[in-house]
Amino acid sequence: MNKEIAVVRGDGIGPEIVAEALKVLDRVADMFGHSFHYVEAWMGGCALDRFGDPLPEQELEKCLAADSVLLGAVGGPKWNGVPGHLRPEKGLLRLRSGLGVYSNNRPAKIWPQLADASPLKASIVEKGIDFIIVRELTGGIYFGEHRTEGDTAVDVLKYTEKEIERIGRIGFATAAKRRGRLCSVEKSNVLDSSRLWKKVMHRLAEEYPEVELSDLLVDNCAMQIVKDPSQFDVIVTENMFGDILSDEASMITGSIGMIPSSSLGDGSRGLYEPIHGSAPDIAGKDLANPIGTVLSAAMMLRYSFDLPSEADAVERAVGQLLDAGYRTADIMSPGMKQVGCRACGDLLAGFIRKD
Ligand code: IPM
Ligand code: MG
Repeated sequence: MNKEIAVVRGDGIGPEIVAEALKVLDRVADMFGHSFHYVEAWMGGCALDRFGDPLPEQELEKCLAADSVLLGAVGGPKWNGVPGHLRPEKGLLRLRSGLGVYSNNRPAKIWPQLADASPLKASIVEKGIDFIIVRELTGGIYFGEHRTEGDTAVDVLKYTEKEIERIGRIGFATAAKRRGRLCSVEKSNVLDSSRLWKKVMHRLAEEYPEVELSDLLVDNCAMQIVKDPSQFDVIVTENMFGDILSDEASMITGSIGMIPSSSLGDGSRGLYEPIHGSAPDIAGKDLANPIGTVLSAAMMLRYSFDLPSEADAVERAVGQLLDAGYRTADIMSPGMKQVGCRACGDLLAGFIRKD
C-alpha cells in the first residue's frame, strides 16, 4: 500500500516523539511491504516563528492533500505573550477544523504492566480501566467568538443540533462495537447548549436500541472517573468537557505519555496525535515518552488505512517493550530499565513482528 502522511512535528518534544513514531512506521512498511511517504508540514509556534502564522494556508493544504496527518505537540512558554489569534494552539484548532475532524477518540486503558503507576488504589484499578472518551472537536467554546473589551472578556459556547447529532452517532456506533454502554456527559442543570445536547442524545438513542444510554453531569463524571472508572465504556461529550476529562482519564492509567488519539471526520483522512502537550521543560533532553505518538500512528494504520494487522503489530510491540521491563522516565519504577526517547523508539521498531 502506498500512502502519503503529512508530518507535523510541532514544538517542544514534538519533533523527538514524531521521529520515533516514523521509525516504527518505517519498520512496519518494510516488514509488511508498504510504502509511506512523508511530507513535512509546519504548524504551531515553529510555524509562527518561520512564517508569522501558526498555520499558513500552504501548510494546511499539505495536510489536506495527504492521506492522513501525524502530529507531535504544539505550544510553549516562548509564545505566552502572543495575541490569541496567533497563538500556537490556534494553529492546532485551525488544523482540526480545516481537516473537518469533528470526532476525537481518546482511549483510557490501563496496561497491566503499568498498574502500579496509577495513582488510584489497587482495589479500584483491579476492577479494570478500559473506556473511550469521544470528544466533539470542532465546535463549542473553542470555536465561538472570543473577545476582550476593557475589563470584560467573552467566549461564546454554541452548538447546533446537527453538530451534536453527528458526534452523537459516533458515540453510539463506538459503544455498539464495544460493551454497549454510552454515557453522555453535559451540564444540563446550567447550560442551554447542554440541554440541547441531552435532548439530541435521547432522540438518537431510539435508533440504537442495542446501546444503553445514560446521562451524567460533567462535575459528577469527573468524580466518578476516580471513584470507579470500571463503570465506563464510552463517554460522549462536548469539546471542552472532553479536553478536561481526557487529561483526568489519562492520569488514572499511569501516564498521559501513553495515550494516543484519533480525530476523524466523514472521510478516511484523520489527524493522529498523542493527548499530552509539548512538555518544553524536557524538550531536547531525550527524556520524552514516544509511546503515545507511536500508538497514535497505530490508530492511523487501523482507522485511516484499514491495516488492522499492522496496527496490532505496533500495539503488541508496546506490550513487549513493557513486558521486557523498559520504561521511559515518566513511567519508571524500581527494578525497571530506564530508557530515553530514542532508545524507546529503537526497541519498539525492533519488536515489530508480522504475527
Ligand atoms: C488537547 C490540548 C489542546 C486542546 C490544546 C493544546 C489547544 O489540550 O489536545 O487536549 O485543548 O484541545
Ligand atoms: Mg487537553
